[in-house]
Formats: sequence, structure tokens, C-alpha cells
Amino acid sequence: MRTLVIFSHPHLATSRVHRTLIDTIDDLPDVQIHHLEAMYPQHDIDVEAEQAACEHAGRLVFQFPFYWYSVPPLLKLWMDEVLAFGWAYGKRQQLRGKPLRLIISSGAPESAYAASGYNRFTMEELLRPLTAMTHLTGMVLQAPLILHGVPNIPGMDVTDPQMLRVEAFARQYRELLEKGLHASKGI
Ligand SMILES: Cc1cc2nc3c(=O)[nH]c(=O)nc-3n(C[C@H](O)[C@H](O)[C@H](O)COP(=O)(O)O)c2cc1C
Repeated sequence: MRTLVIFSHPHLATSRVHRTLIDTIDDLPDVQIHHLEAMYPQHDIDVEAEQAACEHAGRLVFQFPFYWYSVPPLLKLWMDEVLAFGWAYGKRQQLRGKPLRLIISSGAPESAYAASGYNRFTMEELLRPLTAMTHLTGMVLQAPLILHGVPNIPGMDVTDPQMLRVEAFARQYRELLEKGLHASKGI
């Protein structure tokens, strides 16, 4: 079953986390990666091509760094344009039944995402717009894979403990794709 990874990162050239993740999964068979900023530098998303790729895929992944408690802008635009009325919801639900997995990195530590933490809200609360989107489109939201506490530190050495966590997370991500994305619970 083909997996379509919708990947958004506005600054991949300076990325440590997502560069590692992409390098770890990009040789997998049956995994197609759409790096939106590389494909659509002018933000002129090819809606028909994206919809066709979604229809062809058995499951979807949204991979992104958490930006202001949300998705990066081009992933938001992708949703605005690709998940169109009459195709994703309304008369037709072309994504109905397809699993969607979120692969997210965040600069803040996990402890910050709590009522008592400095971000005040849990990830589950902050990800509600995506949960609502899957309800409306009929997609099946899988438990997200989140790597917390990875701010982008320019010039960080590959032996930094943070990079060891990134590499372990990347292996987990790869295994998830290899095994299939089936999971027991959503968020
Ligand atoms: C514009 C911007 C907004 C960000 N917003 C958040 C945020 O809301 N919460 C958070 O935990 N980290 C936030 N971060 C940190 C990024 O999520 C973090 O640097 C990224 O996950 C590291 O991945 P990378 O090495 O692939 O860039 C933000 C970073 C940028 C540049």
C-alpha cells in the first residue's frame, strides 16, 4: 500500500531534525514524499495532481515542524486548496477511511505542553483543528509521533545528545512506515 508523505518545512537547508528524518525514510519503497516548499516555491499548488496522489495512496502522513502551535504556512495552504469542497468533504469524501499519521517536531520540551507548562495547552488540544479536519473528511487519525525538545540550533554537532534523540526518532519513524501505519488509537 502506497504511503504519501506530505512534508512541509520552510527552511530545510538549516534543518537538523527533518533533514535527518527525510534522509532516513527516502529510500523506502512505496513511500512517496512531497516536500511542498521544494515542489511549490511560488505556492502555486497543483491541486489536481495532489488530489490524484492522495487518491492513489492508501495512507497519508503529514510531517512538519511545529510552527506557532500549528502547521507551517504551506501545509495550511495545501489543506485549504487540496481538501476542497466536493472532493474532500460535501458530496464526496475521497479520503474517507484513509489513515493519517502526524509526524511532528517541537522546540519546546514535552513538559511545556501541559496546563501547568509554559505553553499552557496539551498537544492534543493544540492539534484539534487537524482532528476536526479528519472528522469532516472521514480520514482516520492515528496517534501522532512527536519529537519534543528539539529547537533548531545552528552548528550543532552530530555527536550532540539531541542528535542521538533525533536519530532514534528517525529509526522509529522508518519502522512505522515499514510496518505500515496501522495503530490502535487516535489522539
Ligand atoms: C517560525 C517558527 C515557529 C516555531 N513555533 C514553535 C512552536 O509553536 N512550538 C514549538 O515547540 N516549537 C516551535 N518552533 C521550533 C521548531 O518546531 C523547531 O525548531 C523544529 O522542530 C526543529 O526542526 P528542524 O531542525 O527540522 O528545523 C518554531 C520555530 C520557528 C522557526
